[in-house]
Amino acid sequence: MSPFRTDLFAGRVALLTGGGTGITRGIAEMLAAHGAETVLVSRKAEHVMSAATEIEQTFKRRSLGFAADVRQPESLEVAVAYAVKELGRLDILVNGAAGNFPCPSGDLTPNGFGTVIDIDAKGTFNACRAAYHAWMREHGGSILNISATLHYGGTPGQVHVAAAKAAVDALTRTLAVEWGPLGIRSNAIAPGPIGDTEGAKRLFPGEVGERIAAAVPIQRLGTIADIAALALFVLSDAGANLNGAIIPSDGGLSLRGIFDQAFTSRL
Ligand code: COA
Repeated sequence: MSPFRTDLFAGRVALLTGGGTGITRGIAEMLAAHGAETVLVSRKAEHVMSAATEIEQTFKRRSLGFAADVRQPESLEVAVAYAVKELGRLDILVNGAAGNFPCPSGDLTPNGFGTVIDIDAKGTFNACRAAYHAWMREHGGSILNISATLHYGGTPGQVHVAAAKAAVDALTRTLAVEWGPLGIRSNAIAPGPIGDTEGAKRLFPGEVGERIAAAVPIQRLGTIADIAALALFVLSDAGANLNGAIIPSDGGLSLRGIFDQAFTSRL
């Protein structure tokens, strides 16, 4: 049972990159379940078209798929123009498209590093820029970027992702200040380990996931539903005073320090 009113986003239109799968798909479903019309953008046409059809059938709200690569600014401009043309407006942009694979830094090629920067950091900028010019500069709106917590410390094998998400955080804060006066809020959610995503199955399968869950202060991995509910709060009028916020949703995992076990054992 949702804690939010089911018509919370009635009359609003959201475009989500990476919307065909995982966390962003969960946010798209949550928005549709609360009245929003959605446009899902992903480079994989087969994912995004079937996801949009399923969302439309389940929630009885228009949902459109659009195949575009966030690394190509022009294709995002076309995607945003399509959203505005078909659904009449663009209130919400969720930047969820991301690349991630574990790789020791010494083995990562310059192109491997750059590919994740291109998808996460430049892709987020490209989508923000397209939404700004096509709609938000004139009408305001709300941008939600999906960041991470792994760059708060050092996470081995994630140098490319950490650098990219740090850039996403910087972009979130900068746009908050620069575009805030235009009625555009810019915020980010920083998920910790989310157990029910494809990425989690690859990055921390089975027992590794259990060990991570045991290290989380609330003793569990996050879920897509956790992130989707938080997204709804941030994007709704309940979050009207949030701008430039980067909100971790990780059960407190990123707060743990190297001394915590030693001190806990003395309590
Ligand atoms: N280990 C090391 N390097 C890798 C890699 C891996 N597992 N996967 C990709 N790369 C490198 C490639 O070697 C290539 O560099 P090179 O040309 O110097 O060899 C570069 O990254 C680009 O790879 P390519 O497969 O051509 O790019 P792509 O555009 O098809 O896909 C990703 C790149 C990042 C999207 C894809 O590899 C990926 O990780 N997909 C998963 C997305 C995901 O999990 N999203 C959820 C985020 S939490």
